[in-house]
Amino acid sequence: MLTNEMRDTLIKRALDAWHRAYAPYSEYAVGAALLTESGKIYDGVNIENAVYPLTICAERVAVFKAVSEVEKDFQAIAVVTRNGGTPCGSCRQVLAEFGLETVVLIADLDGNLVHELTVADLLPYAFGNADLEAARD
Ligand code: THU
Repeated sequence: MLTNEMRDTLIKRALDAWHRAYAPYSEYAVGAALLTESGKIYDGVNIENAVYPLTICAERVAVFKAVSEVEKDFQAIAVVTRNGGTPCGSCRQVLAEFGLETVVLIADLDGNLVHELTVADLLPYAFGNADLEAARD
């Protein structure tokens, strides 16, 4: 159960992270804060590269930090951008790998919650391991 206090904490952590984004090319900073079922928070920022396609999004940095610490069960992720932008398709797919019910809090730079959705809302008909299993004979 995600409390209002935890919503505020996650948005604040994502906002703090936003200031640490490395986005010299797009100048579109993104901060994320991911809450695990165990109560830990992993934050992430987008990290760009002069070879543009090597850029990684804030959400995936947060997920990969958590998973690399063997934390794979997520309650919620907050994502902060200047204008309350939503996670990209690649990040939706990576989040879906670890649970369609993860809550996604999308906030702007003032800390206003713009959307509260689930990964399932953001990625209907998600492709996942069940599809691979169903195709085995
Ligand atoms: N970006 C994210 O960090 N997360 C998203 O879900 C959308 C896009 C970053 C990638 C790039 O550094 C910048 O925003 C512009 O695309």
